[in-house]
Amino acid sequence: RRPGALVPDLSGVRVLITAGGTREPLDPVRYLGNRSSGRQGFEIASVAAARGAQVSLIAANVELPTPAGAELVRVETAEQLRQATHAAAKDADVVIMAAAVADFRPVTTVEHKIKKSEAAPEPVELVGNPDILVELVAARDAGEFAAVVVGFAAETGDQTGDVLSHGRAKLARKGCDLLVVNAVGAGRAFGQSDNAAIILDRDGRETEVPFGPKALVAAAVCDAVVSRLNR
Ligand code: CTP
Ligand code: CA
Repeated sequence: RRPGALVPDLSGVRVLITAGGTREPLDPVRYLGNRSSGRQGFEIASVAAARGAQVSLIAANVELPTPAGAELVRVETAEQLRQATHAAAKDADVVIMAAAVADFRPVTTVEHKIKKSEAAPEPVELVGNPDILVELVAARDAGEFAAVVVGFAAETGDQTGDVLSHGRAKLARKGCDLLVVNAVGAGRAFGQSDNAAIILDRDGRETEVPFGPKALVAAAVCDAVVSRLNR
């Protein structure tokens, strides 16, 4: 197929996509956040809509134009993203978790702005957020809904393994059908218009998408979704 040629192979398919990065408030003016821009998720929304999908987007703190044909819900925190995603997943054929969800949130959100003082600041106590992707897979496997579930993995690689080995372990841990693995850090992926990815299918297939526009990664993600839907 000619690159860029659009085949309506997602015609009528209901695709739910989360995008952006959640923010966990410390006080009314401050939050813990991450560097996700929402670009990759929004690209997937555009491509899926252009291929005929009915697209719902749940956007956490994304400052980008709404993709043509997508329905958009805005959220800020991981908990809000979680509620919105679980509610919308019931009516989805595909759920794509492209959002960067905060792993932790402050135990308490201070009601008034925290003021600086002479004393050293109090350490910020954190508590873990639920893993929405794992919850979605559990709900799907329990028969609450039927959808192809796609996770994302942002990896830098470290002394315990490279990007790909972390990706493979994450796919097994999360139990999703597809995992889109991105190498991040040092100016890669976050906020950039170009990206590279390896798409891991739970059947063992691994598809490498060379470095290029995020629209090409989006197209490859849609291809992998179509191949799972046709199984
Ligand atoms: N995710 C989620 N809920 C969370 C954290 C992550 O649904 N509380 C989802 C992300 O949307 C993504 C996938 O899980 O699709 C992987 O996120 P990532 O941060 O790469 O993985 P973690 O399991 O959080 O592991 P770590 O951050 O330690 O690499
Ligand atoms: Ca994480």
